Amino acid sequence: MVSLENAKAILLAAGKGVRMKSERAKVLQELLGRPLIYHVLRAVRTAGLKEITVVTGHQEEAVRAAVGEGVVFVRQAEQKGTGHAVQCCEPFLRGFGGDLLVMPGDAPLVMPATLASLVERRRVSGAACVVLTACLDDPRGYGRIVRDSSGGFERIVEQADASESEQRIQEANSSIYAFDASALWDALREIRPNPRSGEIYLTDVLAALKSRGQAILTQRSADACEIYGINTRRDLVAATNFLRWRLLELHLDNGVAVVDPSTTYIEDGVTIGPDTTVRPYTVIEHDVVIGRGCDVGPFAHLRPGTVLEDRAEVGNFVEVKKSRLGRSSKAKHLAYLGDASLGEGVNIGAGTITANYDGRSKHQTVIEDGVHVGSNTVLVAPVRVGKGATTGAGAVVLAGRDVAAGDTVAGVPARSLRMRQAADKAEEPPRKAAKVRRTRPRGNG
Ligand code: UD1
Ligand code: MG
Repeated sequence: MVSLENAKAILLAAGKGVRMKSERAKVLQELLGRPLIYHVLRAVRTAGLKEITVVTGHQEEAVRAAVGEGVVFVRQAEQKGTGHAVQCCEPFLRGFGGDLLVMPGDAPLVMPATLASLVERRRVSGAACVVLTACLDDPRGYGRIVRDSSGGFERIVEQADASESEQRIQEANSSIYAFDASALWDALREIRPNPRSGEIYLTDVLAALKSRGQAILTQRSADACEIYGINTRRDLVAATNFLRWRLLELHLDNGVAVVDPSTTYIEDGVTIGPDTTVRPYTVIEHDVVIGRGCDVGPFAHLRPGTVLEDRAEVGNFVEVKKSRLGRSSKAKHLAYLGDASLGEGVNIGAGTITANYDGRSKHQTVIEDGVHVGSNTVLVAPVRVGKGATTGAGAVVLAGRDVAAGDTVAGVPARSLRMRQAADKAEEPPRKAAKVRRTRPRGNG
């Protein structure tokens, strides 16, 4: 693979996404726990492109925040079409005449290797543009690739402008292009707004280049889902399914025993060690790390910031958020662990709750090695349960009332049994008196 370090990329992310019918800008819609634009940006970076320009407009601040640092932002104040969005970048890329990848922020399934090969092919061929296409069973909504009598590229026609015969074309435009930048800027100046919509279409640049005698090549993706563009909520669901299976297969290939992939929902950004079993109806959200030999589910819910160390077990109806379970620690049934840090070999009884939220802020619970938490214990954070301690069934351990190592606490609010025994002993009446009481029982006289 040639180095793409000198290549640049433009991502189009200024549109509203009207067809999504949402308050939220389209590129911010979530796909397996990450905004669409995150997936696109990662693919471009993984392909090896470093200089990236992102066009923003609708909900600009939020989109820029989601994109983060390390890119150049260009404002498209009014969304006048994909071609216009690229025109807005010209002043910022002035003088750049090399390889330029242009792609939409709503195509999250494209693989980095595909992007790299598109740019590489453009460079090697010297063509003005290589466009990524795919043959779709249902290409409705996509621009179609119209070919000339010899099978070469002729132009792209949008769905709304397509004749009946053009609508039967199954080869769709991905909207992902590798351009020779200088040819692109020249051709863009010629493009007139589409008479129907009034927008300037990037797709029209290809026909303009062609009419100038420049070469346009197509590259067909073997995996059609790569070109998926998300315009509607239905598209988002379809993309979620594609990506979900792609990730599940990766986990299986890494040695994770996903017992029933069809009922297992694992988001992006989850690491799972080999020989871990994930049982049916389990939800694992993004940014979760699971070690080797763990057992998760059925019906477990692991939320962002969860870490399970090797051989930890999380069973049915257990929710874990921003918490760490040390090696071989277990929470097997009906529990909530939030903002908690558990040492090794901890056992969490059924019904245990870390009450982490006081209505204003979240607080931490620390449970040290070898603690045995009895069923239905409530640990009101912030609180620490010392090494080897035990809580009795139904105990409510109040905030700040840390449990000493090795102690046993019980009751509501929970008190140390060790202390209670000592206090009882101190109060115990003399043995003789006790004897008297026993020989003259109440009511016997
Ligand atoms: C576009 C293509 C279509 C292709 C499809 C693939 C055009 C005219 N059509 O259609 O041929 O099959 O993608 O998914 O290019 N955007 C801006 N500014 C604008 C308009 C759009 O930044 O003024 C951004 C959007 O935020 C989006 C991307 O460009 O990320 C594509 O826009 P969208 O409206 O989704 O185009 P499609 O109708 O899908
Ligand atoms: Mg689109």
